[in-house]
Amino acid sequence: MSDYIQFIESNKDRFFTELVDFLKIPSVSSQSEHNPDTRKAATWLVKQLNDIGMPKVELYETAGHPVVYAEDLRAGADAKTVLIYGHYDVQPVDPVELWNSPPFEPVVNGGKIYARGSSDDKGQVFAHIKAVEAYQKTNGKLPVNIKFMIEGEEECGSNNLDVFIREHRDMLKCDTVMVSDTEWFAEGLPSICYSLRGLSYIEITVTGPNRDLHSGTYGGAVDNPLNVLCDIVSSLKDKYGRITIPGFYDDVKPLTSEEREGFAKLPFNYEEYTEELGVADGNGEFGFTTLERTWARPTLDLNGIYGGYTGEGAKTILPSKASAKISMRLVPYQNHEDITAKITKHLKAITPPTVKLDITPLHGGNPVMIELESEGLNAAKRAMNRAFGKDPIMMREGGSIPIVELFGSELNAPTILMGIGLPSDNIHSPNESFSIDNFYGGIKASAIFLEEFAK
Ligand code: BES
Ligand code: MN
Ligand code: MN
Repeated sequence: MSDYIQFIESNKDRFFTELVDFLKIPSVSSQSEHNPDTRKAATWLVKQLNDIGMPKVELYETAGHPVVYAEDLRAGADAKTVLIYGHYDVQPVDPVELWNSPPFEPVVNGGKIYARGSSDDKGQVFAHIKAVEAYQKTNGKLPVNIKFMIEGEEECGSNNLDVFIREHRDMLKCDTVMVSDTEWFAEGLPSICYSLRGLSYIEITVTGPNRDLHSGTYGGAVDNPLNVLCDIVSSLKDKYGRITIPGFYDDVKPLTSEEREGFAKLPFNYEEYTEELGVADGNGEFGFTTLERTWARPTLDLNGIYGGYTGEGAKTILPSKASAKISMRLVPYQNHEDITAKITKHLKAITPPTVKLDITPLHGGNPVMIELESEGLNAAKRAMNRAFGKDPIMMREGGSIPIVELFGSELNAPTILMGIGLPSDNIHSPNESFSIDNFYGGIKASAIFLEEFAK
């Protein structure tokens, strides 16, 4: 057993205690009442990175939450450089009443640690920090140069990280970017992800009369913004599940038959899938399988809709305003700005002149497709095999990590999506958890990766 594996084995308990500490910080980036907590998670990381002996650790202010940056370049100019990216911010906890234990008081049950952010992404990024510590402390030196860039705005769209990357392009120069912020295909099936969907997310508001009206006195005489909103939204998809926005599919790369065959070979169990979700059947774009729909086809979804009276009992009004939050998941080679422009134009065209329409883009990110052959990816495959005893499955993801596209375009470096989450982790949902075996295995995989990539 190599010395750093031995180190990981004998420091498991301390690593775990430190993770618990990190998980106690309610760093919900999208809620301003948590701004002090979000900053606390950043300063906690600064201390961690100093404690493990990174020679340079900085907290960079941005227009939003700070970026934590650290580097150890002692492997020298001839050695390769790995940039490790992750995020310390977490999703809101609501509906909090559905949690079995408080989201920021981590508890262990059945081999999992339960807390908001445990899998997404604190546990995953922390595994890399512990891997660097283990390698450094046992060998006195890292086999590659390491840079950490850990942001606090991923869950609200990474709106300031692009500026940070452009302003610090030289500092961030690297041979590959390592990201652990994805999940395995299934428990016990280590996976590496090679494609993420992109995202265009907008909020729209329809305004009708200048105040809420009595629905008896005025009902039937003026357009009801809530009814208009429902008409608009339901017209955005046809009965075949296709999105009706003109030009929406122009840049969608069709699936190749090789890829479809590849997806079909994966151990996906449709009955288990629907049963686990509590639905009678799946549904989606006509002519595509579930994996194709979530990994390789774009979608449009309402994430929330509001307006009018939603309190207890009935209130007879015709609301003045109604709003909806709409997300579109995008696939290669759609562009989020282009799609946002197309939906904006379309919504304006279909909104009746009897109401006013306001559109606010909330966030965007482009889809990602990663080359299947790179030195980094091959090293990651070997590392997964050595750490978990199996070759990883190469899979795609339906989720988005908006900044990943910029690693290619701005840093000119291939990204490796070597996640250690599980589909059962409930990320973004109540009772988020993280597999403790995957945490320890992930630390090993990360340390082995450093050794393999240096070869
Ligand atoms: N880690 C997730 C992305 C992800 C989700 C990867 C599921 C693999 C499986 C990330 O933190 C995330 O939630 N991204 C957001 C981006 C958005 C807030 C701009 C997403 O996909 O909704
Ligand atoms: Mn994440
Ligand atoms: Mn997330």
